[in-house]
Amino acid sequence: MRDFNENNITDAVIDRFKNTPDPRLKKVLTSLVKHLHDFVRDVELTEAEWTQAIAFLTRTGQLCTDKRQEFILLSDTLGVSMLVDAINHRFAKGATETTVLGPFYVQNPPEAAPGADISHGAAGEPLYVDGSILSVDGKPVPNAIIDVWHSDSEGFYDVQLPGLEEPTLRARFHSDAQGRFSFWTILPRYYPIPYDGTVGDMLKASARHPYRPAHVHFMIIADGLETLVTHLFVDGDQYLDTDAVFAVKNSLIRDFTRQAPGIAPDGKKIDTPWRRLHNDFVLSKAVAKKSAPAA
Ligand code: BEZ
Ligand code: FE
Repeated sequence: MRDFNENNITDAVIDRFKNTPDPRLKKVLTSLVKHLHDFVRDVELTEAEWTQAIAFLTRTGQLCTDKRQEFILLSDTLGVSMLVDAINHRFAKGATETTVLGPFYVQNPPEAAPGADISHGAAGEPLYVDGSILSVDGKPVPNAIIDVWHSDSEGFYDVQLPGLEEPTLRARFHSDAQGRFSFWTILPRYYPIPYDGTVGDMLKASARHPYRPAHVHFMIIADGLETLVTHLFVDGDQYLDTDAVFAVKNSLIRDFTRQAPGIAPDGKKIDTPWRRLHNDFVLSKAVAKKSAPAA
């Protein structure tokens, strides 16, 4: 076939994929072509805009290194990451809800003993975090891996601060025989996502701010259960309704309760005001995963 025009080119391109052996890949490519062509027709894309889009995507790729993933940030700020998360985590009622992983997770964080202080002297309001890991049937989960990480009192992650001697405000704990965990840290602050690249350009051009409300990240891994990637958000934060990456869920907002100086639950004496975050995490039973289409 020849003489393609704006009315028949979509079907012709879809037809060119008709022999794709992997049925899932065929479905994904067919839908991609259909939506991409509809988008171009809908906005009547100009040649200048096409050139600008190619330059934007090229620069987005060039910004990616082993330390920075601008494409994931683009997915996050377009709401795609949370859409994928929602579609893939239709778990049992009662399970703790999921949210984005974000770029500041570091694989295999340092192991810490139960009750340890992971602030390593970082300035901020002391925060005591404790709770349990449970499965949806209500049973405690012993020996679950609990990775935690969060920003400091000025909104920076340790990986953004050159010169720190050790990983700070991040650690790996294990739940005890009753499924419990606890640790000390400091209250995190809201912060901007990295906005010195193409994603920042997009946010500026659309009068959007780059901020995320204050939160503590958790990744919880246990045998036979779905890995839980989530955050707990600090109630009252000014950015809860306008999170730059659309990741806030009401069920994940907690009152990090203010406490007067005194004796903490672990017996520690504190002579300044401090906060407490108490939370039980509920994990779904493991489900079989769909694999990505063969490339
Ligand atoms: C974070 O919470 O660490 C994060 C998530 C998505 C984009 C940027 C940061
Ligand atoms: Fe974060």
